[in-house]
Amino acid sequence: MTSPSVPYGELTNQGASSNIVWHHSTVTRAARAHQRGHRSAILWFTGLSGAGKSTLANAVNSALFEQGLACYVLDGDNVRHGLCSDLGFSDADREENIRRIGEVAKLFLDAGVVVLTAFVSPFRADRQRARDLVGAGDFLEIHCAADLEVCEQRDTKGLYAKARAGEIKEFTGISSPYEAPEAPELRVATGEQSLDDSVAQVMAELERRGIIPAPAEP
Ligand code: ADX
Repeated sequence: MTSPSVPYGELTNQGASSNIVWHHSTVTRAARAHQRGHRSAILWFTGLSGAGKSTLANAVNSALFEQGLACYVLDGDNVRHGLCSDLGFSDADREENIRRIGEVAKLFLDAGVVVLTAFVSPFRADRQRARDLVGAGDFLEIHCAADLEVCEQRDTKGLYAKARAGEIKEFTGISSPYEAPEAPELRVATGEQSLDDSVAQVMAELERRGIIPAPAEP
């Protein structure tokens, strides 16, 4: 397991950066939560390409936004255009991709935002490392569970056909492994149930955990 986990030490000396001192923010996460009326959390959506991670994360994000909550989606395909544009799909590059996303998600968490990450994040160890960056209860792993056959049949981006034809190497589910979560906080059958049902399932879980308030009675 890599360091650090929260809270950071007073003096850190990690990687290429040395002689840097952690500066504590005067506006705390608790103060933000109090002002906003809800906790922050990381909703970590994981699953095969085409399983519906981005669709579900964006739909949940809309539902949260409509309730006036601070929320934001970090999406694999988008983040790879900027923050992670130097990375490919080797195991090492995926590890680095997820490491960066974990760190960015942690910043959003500290900023009082419900942050929804939609990355294949195929390796258990990488997801565990992201989880270990934050406190217990701050990280909800949500498995978008759709069979490979379903994802391949959907093939919304035409990538499975290319992977089968050998035009894309190391494609998750075809020529690179996907390690399904063993004990996710939530498993959503995105290959079978409707988007509305999936959104309702996630929202109910967030209410049950006290991350968002239950909607007011009409
Ligand atoms: S991850 O493995 O590092 O978590 P990430 O979620 O950022 O992947 O990006 C996955 C997206 O990139 C897929 O939805 C797909 O559109 C595209 N992609 C391109 N090449 C690959 C590949 N070899 N394996 C998986 N996804 C790929």
